[in-house]
Amino acid sequence: MVQSQSANDIPVITIDGPGGSGKGTVALRVAEHLGWHLLDSGALYRLVAVAAMDRAIAADDGPALGRLAAGLDVDFGVGPDGMVVQIDGQDVTARLRSEAVSAFSSQAAAFPEVRAALVKLQRACRKAPGLVADGRDMGTVIFPDARLKIFLTASAEARAERRHKQLKEKGESVNLSRLFQDIKKRDERDQSRAVSPLVAASDAHLIDSTEMSIDDVVQQVFELLKESNAAY
Ligand code: DC
Repeated sequence: MVQSQSANDIPVITIDGPGGSGKGTVALRVAEHLGWHLLDSGALYRLVAVAAMDRAIAADDGPALGRLAAGLDVDFGVGPDGMVVQIDGQDVTARLRSEAVSAFSSQAAAFPEVRAALVKLQRACRKAPGLVADGRDMGTVIFPDARLKIFLTASAEARAERRHKQLKEKGESVNLSRLFQDIKKRDERDQSRAVSPLVAASDAHLIDSTEMSIDDVVQQVFELLKESNAAY
């Protein structure tokens, strides 16, 4: 008899951590290596922020943000330069990573209405042959049964410097100490909110990337993958 595979049988690897820890890059590399799907859950909160800013919804209006998140018409595609995201048919990819959107999304993410509206969307990404999911609460709330959980951190100084370098490479000039302050503020907000705060799952493997290159981190994750048998 052929047994059908339920969603809960599909393996998940979660990579959580603060902004700038490198979790997005590591998640992409692991997903590519395994040929698995990728969920960048932060992009969903960023989409809510972009849509809210366009509709003049305030960052402290939880009920309105919740309704917006529940009715979001999002389309993810792939273009010549990577992921293309559209809201209501409009390409918003270039706006997702701005500092204004980072701050707004962190505020919006504190509202239970917003988080609840995005749960189903995130769990629906669990598709065969497997999923690599990165964010803040992937291992604690969205996929508590993940086979391998990583919590990736780095000092706020190191994360500010990485972000500064990225922005400089894009030709944007942003003050380093301002970036550092913004990162600290966002960390505090993400860690102290009542619902799904940024915290390592009790069964997560902690990796501090402050003194590590991305290649070193990816290597360490591959070793954990092998040891845990999570991909097989
Ligand atoms: O990972 P990121 O920097 O793209 O996330 C942007 C914001 O979204 C972050 O400050 C907090 C929120 N977020 C969240 O609350 N839960 C997640 N799983 C992912 C992101």
